[in-house]
This record gives sequence, C-alpha cells and structure tokens, in this order.
Amino acid sequence: MRLVMIGSGYVGLVSGACFADFGHDVVCVDVDETKIAALKEGKIPIFEPGLDQIVQSNSAAGRLHFTTDLAGSVQDADVVFIAVGTPSRRGDGHADLSYVYGAAREIARAVQGFTVVVTKSTVPVGTGDEVERIMREENPDADIAVVSNPEFLREGAAISDFKRPDRIVIGTEEPRAVEVMRRVYRPLYLNESPLLFCERRTSELIKYAGNAFLAMKITFINEIADLCEKVGADVQKVAKGIGLDKRIGDKFLHAGPGYGGSCFPKDTLALVKTAQDAESPVRLIEATVAVNDNRKRAMARKVIAALDGDVRGKTIAVLGLTFKPNTDDMRESPAISIIQALQDKGAIVRAYDPEGMQAARTLMSDVHYGNGAYDIAEGADAVVLVTEWDEFRALDLSRLKSLMRQPVLVDLRNVYPPQELSKHGLRHSGIGRPERPQA
Ligand code: UDX
Repeated sequence: MRLVMIGSGYVGLVSGACFADFGHDVVCVDVDETKIAALKEGKIPIFEPGLDQIVQSNSAAGRLHFTTDLAGSVQDADVVFIAVGTPSRRGDGHADLSYVYGAAREIARAVQGFTVVVTKSTVPVGTGDEVERIMREENPDADIAVVSNPEFLREGAAISDFKRPDRIVIGTEEPRAVEVMRRVYRPLYLNESPLLFCERRTSELIKYAGNAFLAMKITFINEIADLCEKVGADVQKVAKGIGLDKRIGDKFLHAGPGYGGSCFPKDTLALVKTAQDAESPVRLIEATVAVNDNRKRAMARKVIAALDGDVRGKTIAVLGLTFKPNTDDMRESPAISIIQALQDKGAIVRAYDPEGMQAARTLMSDVHYGNGAYDIAEGADAVVLVTEWDEFRALDLSRLKSLMRQPVLVDLRNVYPPQELSKHGLRHSGIGRPERPQA
C-alpha cells in the first residue's frame, strides 16, 4: 500500500520506517528541508537505537522516500498519517493543534480518490471530529475517512514497541476505513498483535488515559519512596512486593526523580484541561502533575542535604541529563530542574551525558560539560546520578572516590546498593531507602 507520513520526527520517522519494513511503500514528508535533505543522505536527526539501520535498508530497497512536497505525495496515497507535533500550548497547557489542523487543510486540498486520513499524533478527544470538519470545509468533494490510531512508542524502545505492540488501537466506524487499516497492519495482525477497533473519540481517550495512568503509577511509587525514607522502609522491596500482584504488575514502579519526556508531562496536562473543560475533572491526574513538578525541585534539596545544607561554591558532578537512557531527548528532563535549583544555591555544576549534551548546551550554557563520568568527578564535592545510562551502572567506585574532593554520591535512580557505596567509603543517599548511619 502507499502510505504517507506527515511529520518526520520521533513518531513519524519511526512509524514510516517500520511500515516500510513491513513492505508498504512509504513517503515521509516534513516542512524542514534540512531534515529531509539529511534523511535522503541516510543521516538520522534523532537518536533512536536501530533507526539508522532500518531507514537506510528501506531507503535502499526503494520503499522509503523523503520529501517536503506534501501535495504531490498525498495524491496517490491510500493512507495519510498526521504525525506532527502537538506541544503544550504556551500558558494554558492545552495541546497546540495548529500543526495538525494545518496538515489537515493541505491534505484536503490534495487528496484524490478515497483516502484514509489518520491522526497518529497524540490529540485531545474530539480532534478527529474537528479534523474532519476542517477537511470537508476545505474540500467538500474529498472522499475521506478520518481515523484515530494513536502511537504507543517509548523513546529508546520505539522500534520494538512498534513491531511488537501490546495492542493497536484504531478509532473509526467507517467500514471502508476498517478494511484499509486491517491491510495496513496485516503484518502485525499476523503476529497476533490485538487490533482494537472502537469509536474515534474512544481511541483518542485511550491514548491519554494510558499515559496518564502510567504517569500516576510512577508518581505513586515516588510518593511511597518519600514515605519509606521517613519510616525506614525500602521502596525497591515495596515495589517488588506490590508488583508481584498481577493486578498491579511490576512495570513502571521504579522510584526516581520524577518523570520527564515529551509525552507524560504534555499528555497529563492536556488530559487535565480536557477534563476540566468537560466539567469532569480528573483530580488524581491533577495531583500527579503537581506532585511530579514539585518532586524534580525536591531532588535538588536532597543533594543540598547530602552536602550538609550548603552547596555555595561547591562543585557538583551530574551524571546523565536526558529524561531517560537511550535517548537524546532533554524535554522536561528532571536534570534541568535539579541543575537550575543547585545553581540558584551557588553550586558549580559539571555534567556528562552520552547523548544529551548537544541538546543540553542549548538549554543550559553555564554548565561545564565533560567527556565522561570520571572526568567530571575530578575535584567534585558530590556526584549525582540522574539518568541511569548503562555506562553509569558499573563505575569503578574506588577510582571515582579518589578523584573527588568529598566522597558524596546521590543516586537518584537507586542504581547502586547502599552497602556497595559504603564499602568504597562513599557517603551516599538514594531514593526511598532507609538511610543507615554512615561512617
Ligand atoms: C511514554 C510511554 O511509555 C509511551 O507508551 C508513550 O507512547 C510515550 O510516553 P516515553 O515518554 O518515551 O514513553 O518514556 P517512558 O519510558 O515511558 O518514561 C517516561 C518517564 O518516566 C521517564 O522520565 C522515566 O525516567 C520515568 N520513569 C519510567 C520512572 O521514573 N520510573 C519508571 O518506573 C518508569
């Protein structure tokens, strides 16, 4: 089938490349000429494990194309996916849908023959109705069906999430569109990936409800971690103990500095707004948003406490800047709030991240960016592990300590067992772990 992906970012590029890998003929469209030119040369503008290989092999096979020409691509497409950004609107937290609506207008003008138009981006409930209204207003003769097909891709695991999804959700009640979408996803369907057909608005809400629930689950274990610190319990064992209950499950119960990324913060806020507008507020998610925002700042206080309450003039080495490992994405990363709060208290911050420093430099200029964990630890009064990259999981703790001015390690991802840190003479603090008296 001929598929067109409008928007070649985290979602559009991964989805387009994977659809091509299924054997479909895919055209990825973007307004950014530089990005399209780079993609044509096989250069991938984002860090996503395995993406370069899948893009190059399918481009070479002639199944994956890149262009800025939206109209020309849409003309003979069977399905057009809208995968453009839906960032939080400045000031009020609603999703900014201007890119979605702009794409819809352009598609409406260019479609020929029956075309399924799919919102792949995360869009508030009711957006599909508005997209359909705009398209029919733009071109009353367009023979289209507007379908919701939300993505459930995690950055850093996007390709495996696409190819082995827990489910594929398709929101449409148009029989012709159901048939087309079954053909689009036939390769996955054959893998027994469940295909869930439902109304369009239901599909749109499934995406938000899913992300909001995951964000709430993380925030739940983060609050339990704070309680553990007060009552002397171990949050990792609490997480294991509750996670063995199959009704709870053991995923997304790792206590940490708070969730970040381009999805949870944006989607929880958008859901809160949608619910408030519908006069049916989602108070649990309102609390999740507030608790998570406060938590990132609270982590800086944990670091300050580890240095006896004063970081003025002290050097702090931050390991990890991205919002999670295996991505270069700094959006809403806890590291940003933590570093800014420490600098506000007069700390000198050094930082290293395997993939995120290029993005970080555009956000935080007054940080010294090093070239490795040991490099930034030299002369540091404390090391803070913020993002659990694999290369931070087996540091030579004796070497680390010998480089530091003070042997203080704050482990915000509980990567190291406390006894391991004590054995190497490091004064340490973690998340939700009983703080035993330390030498
Ligand atoms: C998320 C959803 O998982 C994905 O299904 C959706 O399509 C997009 O949003 P993503 O934001 O890429 O994916 O990352 P994810 O792995 O979900 O982590 C989100 C945040 O939660 C990260 O900051 C991560 O550090 C944090 N997290 C995750 C925890 O703090 N604890 C956990 O146990 C899991």
